[in-house]
Amino acid sequence: MLFQKKEISTLSFNPFKEIGSDWYLLTAGTLENYNTMTASWGFMGFMWGTPSFSCGVRTNRHTFSFMEENEYFTASFFDESYRSALQFCGTRSGRDYDKAKETGLTPIQLDEGVSFEEAKKVIVCRKQFASMMDESSFTSPETYQKWYSKDPCHKQYIGEIVAIYEKTVF
Ligand SMILES: Cc1cc2nc3c(=O)[nH]c(=O)nc-3n(C[C@H](O)[C@H](O)[C@H](O)COP(=O)(O)O)c2cc1C
Repeated sequence: MLFQKKEISTLSFNPFKEIGSDWYLLTAGTLENYNTMTASWGFMGFMWGTPSFSCGVRTNRHTFSFMEENEYFTASFFDESYRSALQFCGTRSGRDYDKAKETGLTPIQLDEGVSFEEAKKVIVCRKQFASMMDESSFTSPETYQKWYSKDPCHKQYIGEIVAIYEKTVF
């Protein structure tokens, strides 16, 4: 199976299912030096005149410094059979584990981003915006209390979607 570039206008994507329920791997860096983590929060839509993808990364994640230091990131989506791999990548840190080695995932370069051969769909993004969420920005104090009273805040990233790849079966 090969990745094929897909026209955004032909994409059918249910963000509530594919982001929120199925989860994805958020990856930033180069093939030589990247990190990946599982994410289930994010948005996709239209911003600043371009198709855009947004994710939130807490500052204590190893992935955070990769998101800060690199211009591109990817969101990689998988079949249900990779749920345990995503579970691993969402509960272990790249500081302690080689996640690709532990899960059997195969890192690959896709345009300027890093993804995995086993993904079924990959969204490649160029960072356009990064902003720390802080208490003063929350208009709902209970939301801040619920999510950030114990854990560090997320930094929100919005990237221009530069390419979408999907697997084609021959
Ligand atoms: C289902 C699931 C969804 C997650 N979503 C996010 C998320 O959207 N943002 C985030 O910062 N962490 C999220 N996490 C937590 C990170 O994946 C987890 O802390 C991971 O171990 C970080 O790895 P790293 O230290 O190598 O970056 C999620 C974890 C799971 C299991």
